[in-house]
Amino acid sequence: MKVVALVGSTRKNSTTRKAVDIVTSEIKKHDIEVDIIHFADVKLPIYEGDLDKEHYPTEVKQFIEKMAEADGVILASPEYHGSVSGVLKNALDYVGAREMSGKIAAIVCTAGSKLGAANTVNTLHQICRNLHAWALPQSPSIPASYEAFEPDGSLKDDNLQGRLEALGGSLAEELTMRK
Ligand SMILES: Cc1cc2nc3c(=O)[nH]c(=O)nc-3n(C[C@H](O)[C@H](O)[C@H](O)COP(=O)(O)O)c2cc1C
Repeated sequence: MKVVALVGSTRKNSTTRKAVDIVTSEIKKHDIEVDIIHFADVKLPIYEGDLDKEHYPTEVKQFIEKMAEADGVILASPEYHGSVSGVLKNALDYVGAREMSGKIAAIVCTAGSKLGAANTVNTLHQICRNLHAWALPQSPSIPASYEAFEPDGSLKDDNLQGRLEALGGSLAEELTMRK
């Protein structure tokens, strides 16, 4: 089984990536393969509605293929202006129900604000519904992300650390049940 995690930040030292690393370390314990697509490393061009699929660049074709082959996905985004980052939304514009229908999605978000990223979490739930994917209800968000992590990548808040680990565990359990 395979999980593809999309990290919607273009920063190398991304806190969203750190959050995904916590979630995926739990998934790997269940013998599930994880492929992290971090948009600091993988660059997809802006979606062009007039471009035929056969003319998509190789990196786009590879991205769509990976999404189609995934049993489950992780959608991770920093909150940008109260919503999903552009780079994640652009990537999701390349896929549809054909690739995503019936798949389980885990959502995790980060925010600069102490209020967390509830708006971005809700938007990603809405996007999943439109892609006919099943978003797990538990969708933690990390407030004040710039000061939330220890140097070793774990969260300072043990409760939040546990919620991220539990999200990974839930995704793994759901996928195992469906096998
Ligand atoms: C363009 C932009 C817009 C942002 N808008 C918000 C926002 O609306 N609310 C918020 O809490 N933080 C906002 N932030 C802060 C980011 O959500 C926060 O720093 C995030 O954790 C960065 O994720 P990263 O470390 O993975 O890049 C914004 C940051 C940027 C660059």
